Amino acid sequence: MSDQEYDLKGREIIVVGGGGYIGAHVCKMIAENGGTPIVFDNFQAGHKHAVKWGPYVTVDLRDRAATLAAFQQHKDVETVVHLASSIEVGEGEKQPEGFYENNVSGALNILMAMRQTQADNLIFSSTCATYGETQNMPLLETEVQNPFSVYGKTKLAIEHMIQSYHKAYDLNYVTFRYFNASGADASGDIGEEHDPETHLIPNALKAAAGRGNRMKLFGTDYDTPDGTCVRDYIHVNDIALAHIHAIRAMDEGLSQAEVNLGTGEGYSVLQIIKAIEEVTGLPVPYDVGPRREGDLTQLFANAARAEEILGFTPQHSSLENIIQTAWNFHKTKWGI
Ligand code: UFG
Repeated sequence: MSDQEYDLKGREIIVVGGGGYIGAHVCKMIAENGGTPIVFDNFQAGHKHAVKWGPYVTVDLRDRAATLAAFQQHKDVETVVHLASSIEVGEGEKQPEGFYENNVSGALNILMAMRQTQADNLIFSSTCATYGETQNMPLLETEVQNPFSVYGKTKLAIEHMIQSYHKAYDLNYVTFRYFNASGADASGDIGEEHDPETHLIPNALKAAAGRGNRMKLFGTDYDTPDGTCVRDYIHVNDIALAHIHAIRAMDEGLSQAEVNLGTGEGYSVLQIIKAIEEVTGLPVPYDVGPRREGDLTQLFANAARAEEILGFTPQHSSLENIIQTAWNFHKTKWGI
């Protein structure tokens, strides 16, 4: 199966947060499948230079009137992908008000605008962080959701709002619970560029390239085989591809689904560092520090439902490809 998965036949699709890391890859995938992404973004975290496949509207989701006006400008659009969010877990613990306002109020404003403009299909980016600490690995979608972080709590609140809109107003939706988005498009022109960057793979690549500080490894005393946290790393183009599958499934009548987006494979922080050293040929200088607040011991998906309901299996998510594409992107960005 290729990334040219489904003919979108020139359809316009609103991508809220389309200037962000995952959003830009979703937009590219929509364009590669014949559609036109219309980006809504306030460009606080997203980048205008990452909007390349269609028009954009600069809009802040916290502004209800402006959000409605943006939807009214594109009132024939039926399908909306919503990825805009505050994502930095530590910041959420310190500034919960801003997190609830941006994530929860912002999502409510989208839902209200969608209802008014009769846009009936929503694909929402939720997170494995909605599950919380549990030994039940791999995680099934039916696992109890008891989020540990404010970030996870905001995403769970949005999941509940979407379910209510489905029940009361016939909104069709697919809620994706992403595991660790990683890697970059093979072209090297879009990739992960958060500021500040908190994620493992870009931070380790930066340290390997000598472009910044030594990496800090947050905790080696976890109850895992090597003492470091275990995560499920899925390539960002697989996440993007899953959205195309979701659009097709909704066109074919799917009206409601919560779906994990992971590979089912867990890697520890030390395994990631080793793989980065192998791919780049460079050592990753790091210091061991204490645990980072909010980190869970291990998270990896049971990925069966995505295959059953959407016919989706990851195509790009070997660890080597994830690291190689992230490395190519960073080298291009740094001009090395
Ligand atoms: N880590 C380090 N050093 C770093 C960065 C990360 O040791 O500089 C460790 C973390 O402690 C964790 C693992 O690497 O054990 C992965 O950390 P990331 O920050 O890359 O990813 P998370 O699992 O924390 O984050 C993912 C998503 C986030 C989302 C979060 C919610 O990437 O966007 O899940 O749990 F907010």
